[in-house]
Amino acid sequence: MALLNILNYPDKRLHKVAKPVEKVNDRIRKLVADMAETMYAAPGVGLAATQVDVHERVIVIDVSDTHEELRAFINPEIIWSSDERKIHEEGCLSVPGIYDNVERAEKVRVRALNEKGETYELDCEGLLAVCIQHEMDHLMGKVFVEYLSPLKQTRIKSKMKKLAHAM
Ligand code: NI
Repeated sequence: MALLNILNYPDKRLHKVAKPVEKVNDRIRKLVADMAETMYAAPGVGLAATQVDVHERVIVIDVSDTHEELRAFINPEIIWSSDERKIHEEGCLSVPGIYDNVERAEKVRVRALNEKGETYELDCEGLLAVCIQHEMDHLMGKVFVEYLSPLKQTRIKSKMKKLAHAM
């Protein structure tokens, strides 16, 4: 396994739209393993392939405290979402140090492939529901700060640029 480099907002590559995975093979399984290692090391609860500059529809998520609930979502689709919405404070490994409120569906049902290439469906609520919607936005080239006001986005961009210079 290997640690992958995470792109930082406002890197333009974060806005690329990911393509569907054609075949779940050893290359994809290695990508899932490397993404999981990178997510745990960060540490974070979710990572989309877009964030490591791979533009294919692959997500890893583990919202447990014990690192025992790793799930790969390959070619994920939201097949149902609740009318009820909820505001949750989000952060992102591509926007370090920034946390803000985003409103999303409270519950969603996701259909995806696992790392064996099998289709599964999962009902998500709480942090898992927030996380899957956040990561699926990444696959569409959208970063959570784009839900915030233009003023906030400008401030965040300048903060990120200063941070990049300091490193
Ligand atoms: Ni993120």
